[in-house]
Amino acid sequence: MKFFVDTADVDEIREINETGLLDGVTTNPSLILKSGRDITEVTREICGIVDGPVSAEVTATDFDGMMREAKVLAKIADNICIKLPPTMDGLKACKKLTGDGHKTNVTLCFSANQALLAAKAGATYISPFIGRIDDIGIEGMELIEEIRIIYDNYDFQTEILAASIRTVNHVKEAAMIGADVATVPPATLKALVKHPLTDKGLDAFLADWAKTGQKIG
Ligand code: E4P
Repeated sequence: MKFFVDTADVDEIREINETGLLDGVTTNPSLILKSGRDITEVTREICGIVDGPVSAEVTATDFDGMMREAKVLAKIADNICIKLPPTMDGLKACKKLTGDGHKTNVTLCFSANQALLAAKAGATYISPFIGRIDDIGIEGMELIEEIRIIYDNYDFQTEILAASIRTVNHVKEAAMIGADVATVPPATLKALVKHPLTDKGLDAFLADWAKTGQKIG
């Protein structure tokens, strides 16, 4: 499973990228707002930090406007992935951009049929929003299961990018189902390594080691 970090905070991205475990970044208009920075400037900086795809979202809602914005975003760096909504105009733009050789990410996916259409439009990634579905009292992870079945039935190459991840269990469950990627907020990504028995065991080993009076090297 690939890990993307879901933020436009360059300090967080730099820190996580240094682990060597980061495969890409996703941003959206809300995350750009949170960063307090200009979209072009912050996206360019992010693209310079990570080698993998960096999703940047169009804000126009019509085909021509989406194509115009996509071309501006694509010029920022070679690793830009254009994020589009699963509307008819968004899917039309996705098909055109994919045909022109761009990476694309169909976002705000809340149904298996939207994911089916995104795959037919040649999307590089489909982003089902797990947490936001959970928020309305429906099991978000079931959407990942449905999309996995449909994509495997037809051998679609579109990668399932589990998005709107809120918990470490979301990451585990998405991995068990076979999502190709999870985009995870920095705090949740860091929490993946946490286990109280690891902390307790490490404390005990270090205490015993100190009693040996030894040093390695
Ligand atoms: C990522 O591509 C999405 O924009 C993001 O995961 C949405 O997460 P949220 O539902 O926490 O805003």
